[in-house]
Amino acid sequence: MTITYRIGVIPGDGTGPEVVREGRKVLGAVAAAEGFALDPVEFDLGGERYLRTGETLPESVLEELRALDAIYLGAVGHPDVRPGVLERDLLLRIRFELDQYVNVRPVRPYPGVSVPLARVDPGEIDLVVVRENSEGLYAGAGGFHRKGTAGEVAVQESINTRFGVDRCLAFAFELARRPGRRGHVTLVHKTNVLNYAGDLWSRAFADMATRHPGVGTAYVHVDAACVYLVEDPGRFDLVVTDNMFGDIVTDLAAAIQGGMGVAAGANLNPEGVSMFEPIGGTAPDHTGRGTINPIAAIAAAGLMLETLGEFEAARRVETGIRSVAPKLRSMRAAEMGFTTSEVGDMIAEAAANA
Ligand code: IPM
Ligand code: MN
Repeated sequence: MTITYRIGVIPGDGTGPEVVREGRKVLGAVAAAEGFALDPVEFDLGGERYLRTGETLPESVLEELRALDAIYLGAVGHPDVRPGVLERDLLLRIRFELDQYVNVRPVRPYPGVSVPLARVDPGEIDLVVVRENSEGLYAGAGGFHRKGTAGEVAVQESINTRFGVDRCLAFAFELARRPGRRGHVTLVHKTNVLNYAGDLWSRAFADMATRHPGVGTAYVHVDAACVYLVEDPGRFDLVVTDNMFGDIVTDLAAAIQGGMGVAAGANLNPEGVSMFEPIGGTAPDHTGRGTINPIAAIAAAGLMLETLGEFEAARRVETGIRSVAPKLRSMRAAEMGFTTSEVGDMIAEAAANA
């Protein structure tokens, strides 16, 4: 009997629908080659729906999402929607409600892709950032006092539970032991200043290390980690960090791998429904022009296949991207030398024959 995966597709806003279309093309090609089926369920969510109906994520939709095998997301964000609405009430709400507690972002340049680091051999860059994805400053804890007055106070608290930190660390240590990884985990934090959160993270990290003999460890302050990512990224295998630091370092990490056009991420609930996305956002300047690079979205589809356990299909996607990337003039939108859909076609074909 053919296995069928029910995939929730949220094309979203901006260039989201254009890149998701290419991802689906590649998914279709590799599913056919490997003999499994995909049952895509499209969800109309994002800025357009919000502007039309005032809804971000209705309860009934959330319940439908809980029943899927995985979610494939393009991008959300809209120039006419107040910043924060779609981020908090749609994207972060899915991450939190479905308890997608780690955000995994692999960082490895594709062959032939020019990276911005003049003194680093691209072959040395092969790391994965494991970002805690369910708490920290993103928990939304805090409040205002005397809002709108000269004496206004705004408090934004970072929530760090031992449970939340432990499950994130456990994920990173186990990933470090998988084939292809180098068995090394670096904790990135700011323990010299964040005396409570940093202390909990360090103790939890040390305990997790004793339970994973054979995995090497290091600690780097987040500011220094930014320097190392630019000057010596080869020192990192697994990087594990909290939600806010992870958000920031993964944009830097995306830049060193060749930019937002190629950077993909996975919001994982290893026991539940996970969500896969290109991390570049809606790119309003490129919307509707066929100039956006779909590789990040196609790579996100590859991460989805890997998580579903379709390793051969995931390998095809990776091989497809690696064989097509060198043909592009640049990874940047509008500079590829091909349209969005031509890149999707070439990768779908290469993946089918890989
Ligand atoms: C990301 C994005 C989101 C985040 C925003 C859109 C809420 O920047 O996925 O990194 O901060 O997590
Ligand atoms: Mn971000």
